[in-house]
Amino acid sequence: MKLMVIGSGGREHAVIRKLKENPGVETIYALPGNGGIAADAVCVDVGAKDIDGAVRFARENAVDFAVVTPDDPLVLGMVDALEAAGVPCFGPDKKAAVIEGSKVFSKNLMKKYGIPTASYEVFDDPAAALAYVEKAPLPTVVKADGLALGKGVLIAQTREEAVEAVKSIMEDKKFGASGDQIVVEEFLTGPEVSVLAFTDGVTVKPMVSSMDHKRAHDDDQGLNTGGMGTVAPNPYYTRDIAEQCMQTIFKPTIAAMAAEGRPFRGCLYFGLMLTPEGPKVIEYNCRFGDPETQVVLPLMQSDLLTAMLACRNGALAETEIRFSDKHACCVIMASDGYPESYEKGYEITYDEGIAAQVYVAGAKLADGKLLTSGGRVLGITAVADTLPEAIQAAYAGVEKVHFGNAYYRHDIGARAMRALAD
Ligand code: AMP
Ligand code: GLY
Repeated sequence: MKLMVIGSGGREHAVIRKLKENPGVETIYALPGNGGIAADAVCVDVGAKDIDGAVRFARENAVDFAVVTPDDPLVLGMVDALEAAGVPCFGPDKKAAVIEGSKVFSKNLMKKYGIPTASYEVFDDPAAALAYVEKAPLPTVVKADGLALGKGVLIAQTREEAVEAVKSIMEDKKFGASGDQIVVEEFLTGPEVSVLAFTDGVTVKPMVSSMDHKRAHDDDQGLNTGGMGTVAPNPYYTRDIAEQCMQTIFKPTIAAMAAEGRPFRGCLYFGLMLTPEGPKVIEYNCRFGDPETQVVLPLMQSDLLTAMLACRNGALAETEIRFSDKHACCVIMASDGYPESYEKGYEITYDEGIAAQVYVAGAKLADGKLLTSGGRVLGITAVADTLPEAIQAAYAGVEKVHFGNAYYRHDIGARAMRALAD
């Protein structure tokens, strides 16, 4: 089979490596891929949001199956366009991707179907929103409705911050049209868990759970980032909690989307908070998480392409999805300064004998050299029998990789280790 994977990050690199394990895969094209992905796939100069370009490329090259991973093309309807052109896809269509594309939609869906989430109000008028946050309980959470590169959530500790958050999103349009509407919601507490799940619109099969580390610096200090590292499984996510989530969140969400005439096929990402009142949904993403994918797929024992085809073809119920009971840790090596400004263009080199998997996120090839080209540069993943061994092996991998201006957190997995000790 000829496959096409849309995207250019570490997540896409992990997806491509896993897809390659299937002996039926002849060629994988990456649109656009990156300098590191080029070692595992044929990179094609078509941007991840270029729907016409992707359709043209798929037709001209007789692509058998497309995997659309990033949020933007999914929300823009790339799957609809490819399917209409006769190219089967893994990923939700535009109608279903709205579960991530609009927080107003997802909050209203949860309310309508009784899926546990933070209580909230929706506003499209800045004056009404400002009047509300003058009285709302603190801290309060202000979210732009639409996509905002993962930055559209502002947690206000004080009245002034809440007013500032509303103004920056609704009046100054910090996130453009994504802020035409906002959700103001209750602040929840508890450990966070990411659960990615395969679904064909009817059946849902969760993958192994994971824990992201969103803040830039050690001890969860600094700005929110796309994610600085992950471990899987997440020790807070016990068997009992998993069963509770299945009954109160996963199945009801899949059924709700189907009932709304928006059956979701692909990977649905449940961002959960384990609150004192039970698990609640913080957010849905219509895709694999980054860097969750870099720890989840290395633990997957069954075939990824088979699972993806089953999601597309409504055959998930009879498809076996299997994960190992090992542990994985991924440490993101970034350019110092990320998520704000940073220097790039430094050469990446590896010592001999690196045992960890290196997933490349932000690098380009120039004259045969791999140069840094983004904020998140590499994800170094190790798998082991225990969590401490996985953490140690991932950091041993980090020690063997070099580039100028490299920055990484030193405490990926530390919170998970404390949870295991409790
Ligand atoms: P998101 O961009 O939706 O992933 O949100 C970023 C982060 O904000 C989440 O990972 C949570 O840590 C935090 N967050 C979002 N909503 C809430 C909430 N209602 N209560 C507490 N924290 C939240
Ligand atoms: N790591 C969080 C996300 O992919 O949105």
